[in-house]
Order: sequence, then C-alpha cells, then structure tokens
Amino acid sequence: MGRCVIKSLPEMKLARSRVEKAKLIRGEKTVAPSLSSFAKGKKYLIKTFGCQGNVRDEETMAGLLELAGFTKTTVEKEADLVIINTCAVRENAEDKVYGEIGKFKANKKANKDFMLAVCGCMMQEEGVAQKLLASYPHITLIFGTHNVPDLLDLLAESVERHKTIVDIHSFAGDIIEDLPAKRNDPYKAFVNISYGCDKFCTYCIVPYTRGRERSRPLEDILKECKELIEAGYKEITLLGQNVNSYGKDFKDGTSFATVLEEVAKLGIARLRFMTSHPWDFSLEMIDIIAKYPNIMKCIHLPVQSGSTEMLRLMGRRYTREEYLALVKNIRERIPDVALTTDIIVGFPNETAEQFEDTLTLCEEVKYDAAFTFIYSPRKGTPAAAIADNVSDEDKHERFNRLLKVIESGVMSHSKTMVGKTYKVLVDGPSKKDETMLSGYTENSKLINFRGPSYLKGEIVDVKIIEDHAFSMIGELVEDPLIIKAKAFKENLLKDPLIKEFLSVSKAIDEDESLIALRKDIEAAQRDLASKVVDDEAHKIAKEKYASLMKEYEEHPLIHNYAALHDDVESLLKEITEGLK
Ligand code: 5AD
Ligand code: SF4
Repeated sequence: MGRCVIKSLPEMKLARSRVEKAKLIRGEKTVAPSLSSFAKGKKYLIKTFGCQGNVRDEETMAGLLELAGFTKTTVEKEADLVIINTCAVRENAEDKVYGEIGKFKANKKANKDFMLAVCGCMMQEEGVAQKLLASYPHITLIFGTHNVPDLLDLLAESVERHKTIVDIHSFAGDIIEDLPAKRNDPYKAFVNISYGCDKFCTYCIVPYTRGRERSRPLEDILKECKELIEAGYKEITLLGQNVNSYGKDFKDGTSFATVLEEVAKLGIARLRFMTSHPWDFSLEMIDIIAKYPNIMKCIHLPVQSGSTEMLRLMGRRYTREEYLALVKNIRERIPDVALTTDIIVGFPNETAEQFEDTLTLCEEVKYDAAFTFIYSPRKGTPAAAIADNVSDEDKHERFNRLLKVIESGVMSHSKTMVGKTYKVLVDGPSKKDETMLSGYTENSKLINFRGPSYLKGEIVDVKIIEDHAFSMIGELVEDPLIIKAKAFKENLLKDPLIKEFLSVSKAIDEDESLIALRKDIEAAQRDLASKVVDDEAHKIAKEKYASLMKEYEEHPLIHNYAALHDDVESLLKEITEGLK
C-alpha cells in the first residue's frame, strides 16, 4: 500500500480503556497554506448517517472546511471534496455506507483533484479501514471520531504528499473547545454537553467508538448557547449519549439539573435534551424540567426492553419496575409530558414471554413515539459473544407486533390533540407538500398547515384539525401578517442599538439631576417670559436660561442620547429601505 500513509488504526482494547484522564484542549485552528490554495474555488459536501452527535460533528467539519476556503454544495456531481460521516450502531447503517462510497468513483474519474474522506463511528471498528482501502482505491482520507479536530491538517497532509492518509485514534478521548461550526439550521441548534459513554450496555458499540464519558465545562456550554440566542436561534437541543450523567466527572456537585437550569435561564425559546438514561434520572432533574416553561415537556427515555431479565443481560442497570416507577414520577410532576423511547427486539435469548413484557410495558406507558430496532450484533461488544439465537422470522414477527402496539399508543395521544391549539416552531415548507408549512409542537409532534413561507423560524399558534399517526394537520390561528409584524417588533427590540437607545431614554426620564434641571429650565422660561419689558432683567433671565440649557445639553446622558439618536435613525432607514 505505497499510496497510503497509515498513521494509526483503531484498537478496541485501547478504546475500552478508561485509565488516562480527559484533557481540555483550547485554541483556534490554523490552515496550512497548501490547503488554502488547494481549497480556492473548491466545493465540499458532507453526507452524515446516524445520530445527532454525528450531525453536530458534521457542523464542526463544515466550519473547519469553510475556514480553509471550501464552499458548500448539495450537488454530488460538482463536489470536489466529499466526506462520508458514518454510523456503527447497527449493521444496516453500515451497509448503506459501502454503497455511498462506491457512488463517488465517478467523481474521481471526472476530477483528478477529487478527494473522498470517510470518517465517523464505523472507522473506529477494527478492520474497517483496511477493508475500505483494499476495496475502494478512490478514498483519500480515513479518520476517526477523535480526529475530527485535526481534519484540516489531515487534508493538508494528503494534498502535500499526494497520498491516502489514515488516522484513527483509539483512546478514551479529550474535550476540544474553540472549534468553528457551520450550522445546518438557522433556528434549531445542537449543543454538546458531554461526549462518549461509560455505560457499556452489552449490545452497544458507542462506548468504544466515542470513548469515555466526559462533560464539557459549563462555561463553554453557556457561551455557545448565549451566542446562539444572540444569533436568533429559537431552539437548542443539549446533546449527550447520556445527558443525565453530565458533571459526574467534575465531582463538584454540578449535574444535568444545573446545565438545564442555567441554559433555561438564558432565555432560549425552546430547550430540549437527548438522550436520557433512566438510571441517572434524578427527581431534581424532573423538577427543573417542570419548573421552566421554556424546557420542552418531552423526554426521550430509552427503555430497550420491558423484561427485567433482558435488561440485566443488556447491562441497563434498572428493572422493569424501576423504569415504570420513574415514568410515574415524571408523569406526576410533569402532567402533560410526552415520552418517547428506543426498543431493541430479538436480543440473544429473548423468549416469547420476555418479548410480551416489552409489549405490555409499551401498552402501559403509551409512548408518544418510539424508535424500534432489531438487535444487530456489534463485533467487540459483550453481547456479540452470545449466540444470536432468535430466528430472523421471530425477530421480524416481534418487530411488527411491537410497531402495532406503539402505533396505537401514539394514536391515543394524537386523538386528544385534535381541536386544541399548540405552539409550532415553523421549519419551512413541508417535505411532502411544498404548499404546506411544517414544524414541531412543544411535545414534538409534526404538524403540517397552510401558511406563507415567511413564517419560517417563527413560533406560531396552530389549531389541530386532523390526526394521523406520525404527523397532524392544523390551521394557523392568527393572521400571518400580524404574526410577522409582532415578530419584527420583538426582533427590533432585541437589537443592541435599539436596546441601548431605549435604556438611555429611560435613564433620562428617571435621572434625579435631570428632573431637577428640567424644572429649573421651565422656571427660567417662565421668568424670561415675564421680563420682556425690562431690558436689563430680560438679559439676566436670558443668560440664566441659556446657561441652564447648556448644562442640560452637556449632561452625559443627553449627550449619549443625541449620539445614539443618529445611529438609530439610520438603522430604521436601512430597515425600511430593505422592506421596499
Ligand atoms: N442493535 C440494535 N439496536 C441497537 N441500538 C444500539 N445498539 C444496538 C444494536 N447492537 C439502539 C438502541 C439505542 C439506539 C440509539 O440504537 O435502542 O438506544
Ligand atoms: Fe450505548 Fe448504553 Fe451508552 Fe446508550 S447508554 S450509548 S445504549 S452504551
């Protein structure tokens, strides 16, 4: 493999190790001159599979690529650099990736500078990189989840040496701050609060592909959230494989409840979080969710199975009864909470009775939505060592029965929503019907309704008129023009210049010295008016009046106001011009 430089390959044993401590690494990235001249005029495209963690990685990679000078395209044919960001959680997610890689052979043929990079969780598995190198010579770069921050250096190395570079670190992982981001959505953002996972559920590859559980410093989370709010974001989703164990590594009492409360207090319109692990869910967290209206009453609480024995074999650390007790607690404290879940069917040795336990649990909880999966053995995980002894036929039969139970639970919630009005954050035109808008309610139901596209990004009232299992039809409650005008006013009032102008104006009205001065001026005016016949007295009164006026104008607040006045006037002119 003379065309390849293999810098590192993954090792499950190292990935499992939790010995060294996570380091916090800060510092902005620089771009090698070779890469910035290569990137000139070139376009990138990133294809992401898998969870929100991968989506957030995509945004970091896009931020890095734009720093280097690449621009984004969504057209595969015109891309000069394609990154395939993979998922390893189940085998079918992996199968899709091979097809994607094959597709880009044509780009390489048509464009000698074309670069294909493959990254993400799948690369962290032993043997995958070697397999890719042997079958797909058009790959230029393979890197792992821990190497995302080094993307620009790896690309530069490949450009300079004209070689395929492979760099996949296997270690527990650090926390890297100050990376740029080019976000996919202008209104909804993901914010990582922790990385990795230490739960080691026996079926799951994530603790190996994403490393140890490590919490981001609270100050960095809050800084990112504040910047998002200032940029006009309406919704933040706090991300972690297990958000509820946030802060355990700090050992100073900081917990997920702390992050939730601090972010909620920043005033974001909608705050969500995922994913929750039942084992780490405290009453304090439930109470914080209940307390803040801007924390969405929607909890993704993977159960995986309704059988205590299966849960034990899965390494989930709770029983069926404990899970149901948690659900009861959540429902008592947050009455209209929406609960969603993940379920695996056909885990090794799952009996028909144990599967029935999953069905009865779902009937009891009545989830608002559920992601259901057929068990997929992942090499290197403890469960993969147990014979996968549930037949395919049984797995599919169980899967289909489960879907029906889930669907009837979902429908029972949807029915109660008809006729009621919900707040919907407008995502834009519906994917299925361009003439409709779509968006999500606070309890994460997808609503389609008629309305103009300028409502994108607004939170609007929609009355539900028809229910379907996975989406609903609604109608706008208010005139869209009025909604936009109100939003416009709200945004204007948030503008820092307008805010300062209004606060100076308020300070002027309340300032004691200015109140006294205004009274003196009025008195001086009256005095002046009464002395028009007496030249000498009039002259004195005029001087008194002029000196008071000078004092008034030179007051720092008045001075400030006058300076801001011109700026505000030109800002308003600019806006009205823009509206024409
Ligand atoms: N097989 C099937 N489903 C899995 N998940 C994780 N690992 C596996 C596996 N090996 C599911 C779990 C998890 C979700 C993200 O993916 O339900 O909560
Ligand atoms: Fe995987 Fe379990 Fe960690 Fe979730 S909690 S990422 S299922 S090991």
